[in-house]
Amino acid sequence: MSNKVVIITGAAQGIGLAAARRFAEGGYSVAMTDLKVDELNAAVAQLQSEGFEVSGHELDVANHAQGAQVVAEIIAHYGRLDALFNNAGITGHRKNVLNFDPEEIKQAEEVNLWGSLYMIQHVARYWVENKIEGAVVNVSSFVASFAEWSPFAYGISKTSVDGLTRTAAFQLGKYGIRVNSVAPGYTKTEMAIKYDYSDPKLRKAAEDKSLLNRWIEPREIANAAFFLAGDQASAITGVKLPVDAGYTTTKEDNKVSLYGENE
Ligand SMILES: NC(=O)c1ccc[n+]([C@@H]2O[C@H](COP(=O)([O-])OP(=O)(O)OC[C@H]3O[C@@H](n4cnc5c(N)ncnc54)[C@H](O)[C@@H]3O)[C@@H](O)[C@H]2O)c1
Repeated sequence: MSNKVVIITGAAQGIGLAAARRFAEGGYSVAMTDLKVDELNAAVAQLQSEGFEVSGHELDVANHAQGAQVVAEIIAHYGRLDALFNNAGITGHRKNVLNFDPEEIKQAEEVNLWGSLYMIQHVARYWVENKIEGAVVNVSSFVASFAEWSPFAYGISKTSVDGLTRTAAFQLGKYGIRVNSVAPGYTKTEMAIKYDYSDPKLRKAAEDKSLLNRWIEPREIANAAFFLAGDQASAITGVKLPVDAGYTTTKEDNKVSLYGENE
């Protein structure tokens, strides 16, 4: 096959599904993976019915052995692999430092941090063995830029993803492998709709905190991931690209000047 091939994790819905469409529109064959099999199959069938070259593969990214097997299957199926979009993520519990449960606290790290690391290992081993200069795009978050109450383990995991992006870029750079991340702000997907978007007060508060005063569409994150994975970003590695409507550019309080706005 001559198409470039990308693996997308968490592709059944939200940002992952928007990315599957974006990469397919951009000429990639897309291996869509997720642990929600029914939703994944429906998403794959929809994109196939529109004529896109996509396939579906059940995968829990926190399962190292399953990841190795699925990556091998995808490479055998397509005969090549060019990029990984490490998108699968969960927010996990909403407790605090004083009352967290030791087992529960591990969930966000297992998926967001270790799952991303495991997938990088699987694809990078193949790329290094076959002298392929592949590209990885991880998913950080705007919450990795500051401390938060809830869900705080999610914030810790995304801060760790920033470290993972730098470390993997550092270790794999000599093989020509690039590793970057996108850091979404409040994006209209089930993850945020469940909590923030469906509550008018929270929805408005999220809008007010961004410089553009709005929520972000999954497609806008997908566009950035597509850019970082492709040749247009050939000299970019080890960076985090915020796609947050300016949320992390300033503190909310700073939007009101202490000195008055200069006309
Ligand atoms: N929506 C936002 O506001 C926002 C903001 C910042 C960062 N993000 C990040 O964007 C990424 C995508 O999130 P989304 O908003 O599309 O959320 P979502 O909940 O709509 O979709 C997440 C997808 O990941 C899958 N998934 C969860 N655990 C998995 C696992 N162990 N293995 C494989 N798949 C798994 C889910 O089944 C789901 O299909 C996540 O990494 C999330 O942390 C989202």
